[in-house]
Amino acid sequence: MTEQIIYLNGEFIPLSEARVSVFDRGFLFGDAVYEVIPAYGGHLFRLEEHLTRLDDSLRGIRMQNPLSRQKWRTLLERLSECCPDEDQSLYLQVTRGVGDKRDHGIPKTIQPTVFAMANPMNRPGPEVYAEGISVITLDDIRWQLCNIKATTLLANVLARSQASDEGAAEAILVRDGKALEGAASNLFIVNSGLIITPPKSPLLLPGITRDLILELADDAGIPWCEADIHATELANADEIWITSSTKEILPVTILNRHPVGDGKPGPRWDHMMTLYRAYIQLVRG
Ligand code: PDD
Repeated sequence: MTEQIIYLNGEFIPLSEARVSVFDRGFLFGDAVYEVIPAYGGHLFRLEEHLTRLDDSLRGIRMQNPLSRQKWRTLLERLSECCPDEDQSLYLQVTRGVGDKRDHGIPKTIQPTVFAMANPMNRPGPEVYAEGISVITLDDIRWQLCNIKATTLLANVLARSQASDEGAAEAILVRDGKALEGAASNLFIVNSGLIITPPKSPLLLPGITRDLILELADDAGIPWCEADIHATELANADEIWITSSTKEILPVTILNRHPVGDGKPGPRWDHMMTLYRAYIQLVRG
């Protein structure tokens, strides 16, 4: 097998040759942002939307984008060329760069570290779509700028780990009685045919998949609204879905060890998944 080629600071190099300083602020402080972008049949999916969110994240941490849109496109396309027949997820990360000592204060001049790689997209198996997944709710202990896609993900990592200890695939994070999103996914419920997702705010990530689902619902005339989802509404929902670029749309059939609705993936999920797959098929060409 040939070695994976990654992008680091202007160069395409074998993974085993990639080196980042221990003084990199991404390593020392989690002072970095990232994106995860699917590529279907070699086509980058919703790239403009991901790069716009990258701009927003960088602005949120007082950084400028080190690369132009065109440069990002070229480098991501080159990484995805390795295996155009395979669906992939592209990961990119921009850290503030390498300081000359460990100091919380941001140095006046510093060069960002830019890293990107392509990996096979690990889709859930058919049994996951047939049976749905199990989730638990947990208190949201994250900071209050969750709209920034920062690599500082310790609270998310711990939430996912607790979910896993309890036999669940994801943790739904609840703050002040409101269910906001998953540890690495956005949240939707369905009530009497109406799709509901929490409004965008600094307390959740503005998911690219989330926006696409709302667009597809509009096109198909499926009713939806943005509204707070109280933990009790979550518990009584007909359907629950979680969404992300790599998980796409997953039906949740068990919430805190209790069945959701009739305990099977629901009809709205089934319809939305059909629309989503058809959209991907168009992109794949
Ligand atoms: N995470 N909310 C959180 C906290 C996330 O980490 C993610 C995605 C989402 C969904 O966003 P999108 O639809 O744009 O992928 C929502 C990525 C996939 C990750 O961290 O790997």
